[in-house]
Amino acid sequence: MENRSLVTIANYSKEKILYLLEMAHEFEKHPNRKILDGKVVATLFFEPSTRTRLSFETAAGRLGARVIGFADPKVTSGTKGETLKDTIMMVSNYADIIVMRHYLEGAAQYASEVAPVPIVNAGDGANQHPSQTMLDLYSIQKTQGTLDNLNIFLVGDLKYGRTVHSLLTAMRHFNPTFHFIAPDELAMPESYKTYCRQNGIRFVETKEFNADVLSDADIIYMTRVQRERFTDLMEYERVKDCYLLKEDMLFRARANMKILHPLPRVNEIEYSIDDTRHAYYFQQARGGLFARQALICDALGITLEDIKNDKTIIL
Ligand code: CP
Repeated sequence: MENRSLVTIANYSKEKILYLLEMAHEFEKHPNRKILDGKVVATLFFEPSTRTRLSFETAAGRLGARVIGFADPKVTSGTKGETLKDTIMMVSNYADIIVMRHYLEGAAQYASEVAPVPIVNAGDGANQHPSQTMLDLYSIQKTQGTLDNLNIFLVGDLKYGRTVHSLLTAMRHFNPTFHFIAPDELAMPESYKTYCRQNGIRFVETKEFNADVLSDADIIYMTRVQRERFTDLMEYERVKDCYLLKEDMLFRARANMKILHPLPRVNEIEYSIDDTRHAYYFQQARGGLFARQALICDALGITLEDIKNDKTIIL
């Protein structure tokens, strides 16, 4: 049987990405339907989340599915010693699809190998966050009118930042030029730079972060320095304020430059930027609803044509 899990965005072709984005646009036009009536979506969150869990649950609910799951593993039988495999096997008895966030890199891959139902990776450690990438691409396409030939600046925690790892992987299809802006301690891992070289992705590494450097950007993708990923908290203290985007750094920015952030934000984007034409992070998170509706439907075998012909729309 075809494995319809989404573990890494690397498995998606350009055509598949564009197809899912078109599906997301259909859902933005009509997000309320009954196309998943009778289905059960499980959300298993072994790590904290606001946006990812709530947008997946809203996505399922607005399509008529029921949602089961947990937001805190402390309330599960994992505390009694139940393994991840047994948890996945149990939940597969109840749900048609499992959305899972886990603190271990590779947990989603493992779950997809043991589960009889599709697994959607909602973030595995510092590895990948493919559903975030789909909403990032949705935002980029909507604001820039294309995914092709863009200057994308990734700023902050490029070492542990699973969202930047996934975004970089997906963008190989679209001829981007990346600027990696990070301190040495949080630099883009060598494995991803190798990936860029192997896939013909241009990149520039710099520690400079000022109006001049940012004037070329189509997208500035800010990230939070993630305290929870550090084993040495002294190192976290040294780098936590490494790059703070201030409004007065945007005076040379391109008119259509947009600032994205997977959120949550701590202090890396000055609040006054929220009211500028460049801020797009809240709209970006809204798009997560439609992107995740597309991902759930695709994992359940529902096609774009099914959605275009859907008669269950609730106006
Ligand atoms: N972007 C993101 O993954 O946010 P949450 O951690 O709140 O889900």
